[in-house]
Amino acid sequence: MKPRVLALTDLPEDLRERLEAEIELEVQPAGELSDAAVARRVEGFHGLIPLLIHRVGPATFEAADRLKIVANVAVGVDNVDLESAGQAGIAVTHTPGVLTDDTADLAFGLLLAAVRRLGEADRYVRQGRFTGWKPDLLLGRSLASLTLGVVGAGRIGRAVLERARAFGMRRLYASRSALAPEVERDLGARRRTLEELLTEADVVSLHVPLTDETRHLIDQRALERMKPGSYLINTARGPVVDEAALVEALRSEKLAGAGLDVFENEPRVHPDLLELDRVVLAPHIGSATVETRHAMAELAVESVLDLLVRGRWPEHLVVDPRNLSSHLAVSTGDARE
Ligand code: NAP
Ligand code: GLV
Repeated sequence: MKPRVLALTDLPEDLRERLEAEIELEVQPAGELSDAAVARRVEGFHGLIPLLIHRVGPATFEAADRLKIVANVAVGVDNVDLESAGQAGIAVTHTPGVLTDDTADLAFGLLLAAVRRLGEADRYVRQGRFTGWKPDLLLGRSLASLTLGVVGAGRIGRAVLERARAFGMRRLYASRSALAPEVERDLGARRRTLEELLTEADVVSLHVPLTDETRHLIDQRALERMKPGSYLINTARGPVVDEAALVEALRSEKLAGAGLDVFENEPRVHPDLLELDRVVLAPHIGSATVETRHAMAELAVESVLDLLVRGRWPEHLVVDPRNLSSHLAVSTGDARE
């Protein structure tokens, strides 16, 4: 019997064919789903391909009588309860690397848009208010005079630092672990504690995963520490920032602006953010290019095929059942050590 896989998203034709040659595929594209809703669908499937809008939690792992792998089509895995997956001995994979450049581009795009006031400028022209060049019209800040502080110098954070180098910005980063000296040298970036970075940076760009430790990492106190007239860019996850506190910091003009691709209660956007002219908003499109969305789906498909068909361990495991006390019985072949 072929393994059965449930995809909660449409897949590109070529990837669908690749899967269907080896497994029994069921595609059930779905918008946001709660854990209970995923649980109702998962029975009898060996593989699950969810998106970040699908919560895969204890109820799903409880209901999953045959599940061996959850192949999340995202690099962030905060929608998956990794502890429950581990307890159930179910592998979880994600899609790192292939979306790094596009997400860094989007972060830098938001940075440019916030600092050079592109959202306001676009609205100004559309509203027919452009009646002539003026020396003080929509003045922003010169990027080369500013310091960028990247919080979370992983794949995307480092790619943002590379872009900042090209724009002549001074560069700082805060991460739990230091970058290798040669990487620091190459990026021209200095390590700071988060507190130091917040007081020194003109633009703070967030690139940490959402975890218990990073939830509301940027809270009222952190925002108070930020430089007057600085900017916050968030392409990480909405709950890393206390959105109500951010609104206050923007309203009081403590911050000069923000660029946000992610929101605390996505897809709901804090209504006050919509009113603030100096905030640039995007609907979670960090990885949204034709090339990258295909590459992400391909990584998920390959992970499923590796584990369920080829009997090898997928490359991008975030929950690796080999490292857990519970075991994984890969019934479809010999798992690679
Ligand atoms: P990554 O390579 O794992 O980088 C994350 C970095 O955060 C690591 O360097 C990690 O380093 C650091 N970190 C973790 N916890 C920290 C903490 N408490 N304080 C400071 N630093 C911490 O991941 P990535 O590929 O760059 O992706 C980062 C995140 O971006 C994803 O998890 C996802 O949520 C988000 N993302 C969003 C979009 C979008 O569409 N907007 C697209 C892709 C990704 P240490 O462990 O050494 O601290
Ligand atoms: C997108 O937000 C991702 O985590 O891939």
